[in-house]
Amino acid sequence: MGKYFEELQQKYKVKLEKQIVNDVLNDDLLGESMKYSLKAKAKRIRPLLMIAVMLDFNKEITNDVYKVATALEWIHTYSLIHDDLPAMDDDALRRGVPTNHKVYGEATAILTGDALLTDAFYLLNSTNLKAKIKCELTLKMASAAGSIGMIQGQMLDIKAENQILPIEKVQNIHKLKTGALIEYAVYAGSLLADVTVKEQDALLNYAKHLGLAFQIRDDILDVIGNTKELGKEVGRDEELEKSTYPKVYGINKSIELLSGEIEKAINSIEEINLPMNYLKDLVKILEVKK
Ligand code: IPE
Ligand code: IPE
Ligand code: MG
Ligand code: MG
Ligand code: MG
Repeated sequence: MGKYFEELQQKYKVKLEKQIVNDVLNDDLLGESMKYSLKAKAKRIRPLLMIAVMLDFNKEITNDVYKVATALEWIHTYSLIHDDLPAMDDDALRRGVPTNHKVYGEATAILTGDALLTDAFYLLNSTNLKAKIKCELTLKMASAAGSIGMIQGQMLDIKAENQILPIEKVQNIHKLKTGALIEYAVYAGSLLADVTVKEQDALLNYAKHLGLAFQIRDDILDVIGNTKELGKEVGRDEELEKSTYPKVYGINKSIELLSGEIEKAINSIEEINLPMNYLKDLVKILEVKK
């Protein structure tokens, strides 16, 4: 692990963890259920990625930045609660603990997801950021999370079960179901860091490769990883006959293609000469050894 990623974890993750749980609005059963899924052990890659963009441009991580990062993690957490439901991937373990519906029941799990999704927009817009910035962040978040982003990806993922898809279609599912929120993290960071158009283009290119790499890695680990380390049941993709890189290419080739995406992500930001290496360090942690 590079020293920048280590610093990201040590210096910023602690406050982030607190914020993610403490900002929950509801203090009833719904709030308890939201906090249950939020406080379980997670990597927080998306909010850390957003923070990494800002640090690479020497920008201050203000309370408002933490709030936008928290809103993003809430949307991601909602997507996992719904992804695990019996009607979706039907999983019993998430982030090292029983899935939300196993503890609170399906109805509460569905409502917990709904609450996290909706409250994310509340939180984002309760910041003291300029109205124009809030508007852009809101619009982009809606398109990244909704029917032309993550949810469309989830829809295609479910429809693709029990089928052999061409790789372009698999990539499109990854780009939507996983890439969209990862690209949002980088977009939000770049907007708050007030970067130039050229810099933003390079960053978004980086995010595209990172997003694809992230899902390829997730699918590789579903085959060769272990439940204890991942905090979720492995082998589920094969059981559900999901369309994945390992299914199309096998494990060794998938690991090579993952490395290729990581390299492309790094190359994308090479040209903009960042003073720090937070983003470079962050993508490198996705590497899987053969
Ligand atoms: C899991 O996301 C879902 C995918 C997009 C692969 P993460 O791997 O970021 O899960 P947490 O947040 O660390 O639990
Ligand atoms: C989930 O992909 C993507 C989203 C939740 C949007 P997966 O279904 O592969 O994620 P895991 O493996 O359950 O975390
Ligand atoms: Mg899924
Ligand atoms: Mg799943
Ligand atoms: Mg998976």
